[in-house]
Amino acid sequence: MNVNGKHYRTIWVKEGDESVIQIIDQRNLPHEFIVEDLASVDDVAKAIKEMHVRGAGLIGASAGYGMYIATLEASKNDSFERFVNESGEKLTSTRPTSVNLEWAVKRQLAAIKKGSSIKEKISIALKTANEIADEDAGFCKRIGKHGLKIIEEINRGGKGESVNVLTHCNAGWLAFVDYGSATAPIYAAFDKGIKIHVWVDETRPRNQGARLTAWELGQHGVPHTVIPDNVGGHLMQHGLVDMVIVGTDRTTHTGDVANKIGTYLKALAAKNNNVPFYVALPSSTFDWKMKDGIKEIPIEERGSDEVRYIRGLWNGEIRKVLLTPKNSHATNYAFDVTPSRLVTGLITERGVCKADEKSVMDLYPEHRTEYNEI
Ligand code: MRU
Repeated sequence: MNVNGKHYRTIWVKEGDESVIQIIDQRNLPHEFIVEDLASVDDVAKAIKEMHVRGAGLIGASAGYGMYIATLEASKNDSFERFVNESGEKLTSTRPTSVNLEWAVKRQLAAIKKGSSIKEKISIALKTANEIADEDAGFCKRIGKHGLKIIEEINRGGKGESVNVLTHCNAGWLAFVDYGSATAPIYAAFDKGIKIHVWVDETRPRNQGARLTAWELGQHGVPHTVIPDNVGGHLMQHGLVDMVIVGTDRTTHTGDVANKIGTYLKALAAKNNNVPFYVALPSSTFDWKMKDGIKEIPIEERGSDEVRYIRGLWNGEIRKVLLTPKNSHATNYAFDVTPSRLVTGLITERGVCKADEKSVMDLYPEHRTEYNEI
């Protein structure tokens, strides 16, 4: 997608130096646009853990490139195999909820094994990392096409007014390699000339909605309004939301959806107000093993300072200020799980399906034999 008219992906191999990966460091957006070099596995692990990069698809792509960098570092190490395996463990442990991370590391480990020399293993790892990134962008583009049909349906039922979509957190192109999941149908509708407006949940505590979703929608020219997290229910009661589209960090093949904390409350409000609640995801975000999302999905807990402090621009500088009383404790669950019964449908790269085991497996029959018998 575009930043000030120039096309960017969120991650790429540095031009002229294949040993370095470049990312957009998201921590200071929208106020500062910074491109960061990552040259070691430790750099990549830090970038994921401290959320220079974030969002399911981009975490997966970063892990893919991280494993490529691991092969470069491993080639200078005594034990190539051990270094690569330990790097995989290091990367996997950075963010527990996002299933794309584990998925990308496992895919890389299986691919690297096939190389018969270190040189070949490095070249396979680079090829696989590029494939993961390209596939992510391609999947999101297709999610856009499938989601567009739902928006078109809603548009036809309206009276020429804007279609109002509510979204939570940032499942936009910044959370992927390009296009985004929840935002892909929105961009597709906007590009087709459909009048569309997005309610952007601010998404406390890290404000991915207010900072990132609002910024990227603005860069694309999509009309949007930032709202505090607790406004959605009120808007729905007054007919001001036509549909909700969110992303997800892990969705069980039975349809339970882990997404940024607060998503569950939006789903409850949507159900109570008959507002369709859609979840957009590429297949890399399905968990093919877990059946009960609430019991089984690991929920990341982050530092309490993310709740106690808030960051923003003050006199041209990014500052962090204390919000709460100095000694108040705070908890910071980063995700919650929305049970499948609250989800109207899943928008995937293969089409839209119901959030239940049979429908998901009908769309992805190749996973049927892997772990589950329906
Ligand atoms: O903690 P983050 O910013 O990595 O959380 C991820 C998210 O942005 C959301 O949960 C998003 O809606 C799903 S990721 C595509």
